[in-house]
Formats: sequence, structure tokens, C-alpha cells
Amino acid sequence: MAIVEFTDLFKVFGPDPAGALARFRAGADRDALREAGGHTVALADISLAIAPGEIFVVMGLSGSGKSTLVRLINRLIRPTSGQVRVAGADVGAMTDSELTALRRHRISMVFQHFGLMPHRTVLDNVAYGLAIQKQPRSAYEATARRWVETVGLSGFETAWPDELSGGMRQRVGLARALATDPDILLMDEPFSALDPLIRRDMQDQLLALQGDLTKTIVFITHDLDEALRLGDRIAILKDGALAQLGTPEEILLAPASDYVAAFLRDVNRGRVLTASSAMQRTPPQVGPGQSSAASIAPETPLETVLPLVAEQDVPVAVVDADGAVLGTVSRQDVIALLVPK
Ligand SMILES: Nc1ncnc2c1ncn2[C@@H]1O[C@H](COP(=O)(O)OP(=O)(O)OP(=O)(O)O)[C@@H](O)[C@H]1O
Ligand SMILES: [Mg+2]
Repeated sequence: MAIVEFTDLFKVFGPDPAGALARFRAGADRDALREAGGHTVALADISLAIAPGEIFVVMGLSGSGKSTLVRLINRLIRPTSGQVRVAGADVGAMTDSELTALRRHRISMVFQHFGLMPHRTVLDNVAYGLAIQKQPRSAYEATARRWVETVGLSGFETAWPDELSGGMRQRVGLARALATDPDILLMDEPFSALDPLIRRDMQDQLLALQGDLTKTIVFITHDLDEALRLGDRIAILKDGALAQLGTPEEILLAPASDYVAAFLRDVNRGRVLTASSAMQRTPPQVGPGQSSAASIAPETPLETVLPLVAEQDVPVAVVDADGAVLGTVSRQDVIALLVPK
């Protein structure tokens, strides 16, 4: 079952959202609504389901509705029309105490500009979500210390946020978000303010943590490389509408529109596409002495496959974890995917 589900969702900002939505549904144009009455159709007819344990990336240009989508999940804002469900429960119908429980226990946020409290130490920032759960300090301090250590900040427990670099601050933000052991982590451009190398470190750390934790992560980014690196699936928004939803490989192999294709133009295809997409599923008859010595796993990126097929004339076998042959990949198969028509 989906852990987060949006159904027929619209969000309109402005003085008369319901009226503007009615006009939008009747065919009024988004720009005209903005110019005529100061209304913004921030999300238009979004239906999608996020599965437990996936890293779900939302990407799109500035103003495409990414933050709006994420803020609806913990009801920082409410939809103009449509529904948001978390673990089956309608977020719009929650009472105040249910909503508080949702925000304290099930969902955490990590912010672009860290959102640390300047007058609290690293440890107290990390412990914040536990402290507001009204646990005694003796009960939560060990948990907070463990998270400080997990994100690599041992020794900085008593430091103040302004004594830390950007990357370190965001490690505190991550530790704070994880300390309450939420099911869902909402991350709105968490690494955008960081230098490229630090940013990559943080991506690695997030992937490593996710390997152990398997939280559901809704991750917003402008950065295509980051989206492709982190996302199990990616939703691309354009003007508040869903332009495409799929795995990185699905989107790259079959962009739904020219808009999406243009978005993907500079992607390193060899890094995203894998042997499983390139392989011929029926293994051809391999004559004596023709069988390939090399074999690869289906998830091997083509940038790794390419040198293997380049140096031998017979196709490389693609084998699963049990050693069963799934298919073969030839030089031509790899080139056909790396160089799209
Ligand atoms: N509280 C608000 N009041 C009025 N308009 C808003 C409000 N919040 C967002 N908008 C508008 O809704 C649209 C979508 O905004 P949103 O913040 O979701 O975009 P975004 O994709 O997160 O952009 P960015 O990449 O710049 O963060 C924008 O046109 C924005 O101006
Ligand atoms: Mg935003």
C-alpha cells in the first residue's frame, strides 16, 4: 500500500482559490488567471502514490510546485481540491491532535537552509524533536548522541550551529530529522546550499543511511544529476502538472514529452542506463568456443559494460544473482542506447 497518496489534487493560491479553480477547470489559462486575479495554480490535477521505503524525487523548474506538493503532506498547507493520504489516513480530515502526532512521530522535515536553532547546541538541536515529545532528557539524550555520531559529528555535541560549516549544519539537520525515527522524511532541496563536493558527500551519506533505515524519503531537487543519483522514482513537475513519473531509466528511455526530453538532454546516459535495458532477452545460440567469458549483473551501468563489450567480439552474458543467464549484451546493443536516435 502507498504510504503517501495524492488524489485529484489541486492547489490554487490567491484571493478566491475555489473560484479560480472553477475557471481553470473550465479551460482558463494559468497565465491568464495570474494576470487577471492574482491566482497561481500551483498544483494541477496531481494523482500519484509513493511506496514505503522509496526515495521519491520531485523535480522541476522554480515555481513548478515542488515545495507546495511536499507541504501538503504534513498539512502545512491544505489542498484547494482533492485529497492527501498518509498511511491510508486522510490528512485533511485529521483533528489537531492527530495532526500533531503525525508531525511529531511519523514525518520529519529537512530544510534547504538547515533551520537550526542558533541558541541550542548541536546535541540540543538533534534532540529537539524528542524533547517536544515530552520525554525526559535522561530518556532521549543517548538517542540524540547516537544520531550525532551516526552523521559523523562526534566531538561537536556542544558546538553552536554558527561554528559549523554548511555541510556540518545539514548533518545536524539530518540527524535531527532522523532522531524521532519517522516513517517519512521530507527533504526540500536539502543540499542545494552546499558546495558540489560536500553535496556529493551528503548524497552518499543519505544513500548509506537509507541502506540501513529504509525510510520513505520525498526529496526535492532542481538538480538532475542529484535526482538521477538518489531517486528510485522521479516525478517531473511542469507548471504544477505532472509531466512524467518513473524510474530514472524509464524516463530516460521514454521521455513523455519534448519538455522532459529537453530536461534530460545533458544526462550521462551510460551512468543511468543499465545492462538490463540493453540486453537481448533470448540468449542467442552460442557455438563452441564462442561463449563469452565475461558476465555481468543486470543492474550494471552501461559505462561499465562498454569497455567489456569493446574488447571482445562475442556478446557479454547478463546473469542474475543465482547465476541464471537472463540475456546477452553486444557492442551494438550498448551503442544503440548510449546514442539515441
Ligand atoms: N503562499 C503562497 N502564496 C501565493 N503563491 C504561492 C504561495 N506558495 C507558493 N506560491 C506560488 O505557487 C507556485 C509554486 O510554488 P512552489 O514554492 O511550490 O514552487 P517550487 O517548485 O518549490 O519552486 P522553487 O524551486 O523556486 O522552490 C509559484 O508560482 C509560487 O509563487
Ligand atoms: Mg521550493
